[in-house]
Amino acid sequence: MRTLVGYADRLSVLAGEEIGFKVSCRSPTYHADIVRLVHGDESPEGPGFKEELLETTVSGEYEGRVQPIRPGSYVIVASAPPLRLTGSFEVRAHIFPTTPAKGVQGLVTRWSGSRGWGLFLGAEGNLELWLGRGDGRVVRISSGAPLDSHCWYFVTGSYNVETRVATLSQDGQVVSRLAAPLSTDPGADVPLLMGAHWTKAGNPEGYFNGKIGSPRLYGHAVQPGENDAGPNVAVAYWDLAADIQTTRVRDTSRNELHGRTVNMPARGVTGHNWSGDLWSWRDAPEQYGAIHFHDDDLEDAGWETDFTLTVPPGLTSGVYAARLRSDDADDHIPFIVRPVKGKPAADVAVLLPTYTYLAYANETIFEPHVPLLEQDEDRWAAENRLTSLYNWHSDGSGVFYGSRLKPMMNLRPRYRYWLTGHPHGLGADLCLLDWLETKGHRHDALTDEDLHHEGVDLLGSYRVVLTGAHPEYTTAPMIRALKAFLEAGGRLMYLGGNGFWMVTGVHGEQPHVIEIRRRSPTSGLWGSEPGEVFLSTTGELGDTWQQRRERPRQLVGVGFERMVLEGQPYRRDPGSFDPRAAFVFEGVESDEVIGNFGLLFGGAASYEVDGIDVRYGTPSHALLLAHASDFTPVGTPELDHHARADMVFFETPSGGAVFATGSIGWCAALSHNRYDNNVSR
Ligand SMILES: [Fe+2]
Repeated sequence: MRTLVGYADRLSVLAGEEIGFKVSCRSPTYHADIVRLVHGDESPEGPGFKEELLETTVSGEYEGRVQPIRPGSYVIVASAPPLRLTGSFEVRAHIFPTTPAKGVQGLVTRWSGSRGWGLFLGAEGNLELWLGRGDGRVVRISSGAPLDSHCWYFVTGSYNVETRVATLSQDGQVVSRLAAPLSTDPGADVPLLMGAHWTKAGNPEGYFNGKIGSPRLYGHAVQPGENDAGPNVAVAYWDLAADIQTTRVRDTSRNELHGRTVNMPARGVTGHNWSGDLWSWRDAPEQYGAIHFHDDDLEDAGWETDFTLTVPPGLTSGVYAARLRSDDADDHIPFIVRPVKGKPAADVAVLLPTYTYLAYANETIFEPHVPLLEQDEDRWAAENRLTSLYNWHSDGSGVFYGSRLKPMMNLRPRYRYWLTGHPHGLGADLCLLDWLETKGHRHDALTDEDLHHEGVDLLGSYRVVLTGAHPEYTTAPMIRALKAFLEAGGRLMYLGGNGFWMVTGVHGEQPHVIEIRRRSPTSGLWGSEPGEVFLSTTGELGDTWQQRRERPRQLVGVGFERMVLEGQPYRRDPGSFDPRAAFVFEGVESDEVIGNFGLLFGGAASYEVDGIDVRYGTPSHALLLAHASDFTPVGTPELDHHARADMVFFETPSGGAVFATGSIGWCAALSHNRYDNNVSR
């Protein structure tokens, strides 16, 4: 069990800016320093772990304290005078429970321990109306039978103060009725929640798994046959289809009891009235008036800051970390220092694929894959119910959103990936940074997040931009910025595999949140439900860039072919002898096998490999320089994809060029034989 864990409030930082670190530590004290990360993987075949200690104001002893992970999403509506329902009232909603019998779940509640009112699912999955008597005792009336999972129900709970009768209805039928004197006001400071209930201690609990649609609240018990139960007569009449791209929850009644979502429950999901004809929430918003809550959603762990670094001016751009050490544990919390805005310190930039780090963050082991190893980091993520965009929620639905405001357990320099047993993400990209440094190539470090927000201006003055090993998760602004960079004569070296693949959205209000949907499910991964294939954050179709105009092969010549859990070398193709590309192969023999070594499966072509295909956009003048084949592909074949890695080179009209290796394992081969090898050359 890990006793020392932390995260930073940002991933990319400029000189002069502050970055805060949040730590959970079971020991009484720990020591913190800032280090520059040079190389991570500790395999004996590589250069080993390398870091450099920096002298900063951070260095020192800190008091340890445990900071918890509390997942679970809900909607909160702050307490307001119109919510004080002292007379009759009625609450209504459409609900779609996905795990009805998992324990008490709050649906629409204004509840505080033993006071107030609320629609709940009881411990066995029955629909229940809870009402406080005002004396600490609680009246619970129940539907008497558990609800089915993955079915829509229209549910109402009401109390008539004149008859003193509380009524619970399901799909228009009264399922339970009870006469009792009640006092249902929980007190002034209790908020209304959807998808959870409040506790006496002042925190949410009883997280619901499933969807809630069209929640309504009335200050009278609505009579059967009462025609106008619209926003004009309601105390609150929430429209969950409004503001789907935001965290706002709009009340269309005159009381304006607006709320907000907490921990990113899924929006842009189908409601009870979805017809199946239109698949985008933009085309039929009235059919998307629902929110899908999960008891393991987590947008912001909300930990307190333990120490802050003001990045010293003049600090070289690169990858750094807060290094934490207690008597029994250590940890690194990585971050990236960018060059001063508008003042690049080199003519080479490395674009670190931080959205891919974020997508894979806290990926826990899932079937049908067999883990090659399980790290402490994986166990901690699983124990704390953290999820990545590869995982399923506890109710079996796919995880749409990723956030960096929580520990990202596998974003660690030494981390080895459970699926491959090798470095992945940051660990693989440090192989490239270490090689650049060893070879004396000055470079700046940039991130996906920087490119997404700043566009081509970020790249404008660089001669060459290098990608990391696995730049898979790509937003539309990023693709367009890279295209503009190439069109302006820039040179792009794509030193990875599975790149520019998944259409990724960034939340407009919460830049630490990314989103995907999977229209075309890939073997072994979750797929989006029908009608839920459009991103709530951007409205884009959730698919691969292969299905968009900006295809990966158009951008970099090669595109994802297959996953392969082995390494193979490249062999030269005739294109490598073309004078246009001869410079790439200086010092390499014509029949030389390239990259039959490396820290990733012992081959420069490994893990996920990309190939050329003119049908999918590879420019016709692209030169195939070399290829690696003879792999055993993993997973079910998709389309007619082949397990091969193609190395290509092509020029762009205004003097720019692209060089691509089409393999995630390439960078991890650079350090072989003390950096003296034909990949490094
Ligand atoms: Fe990937």
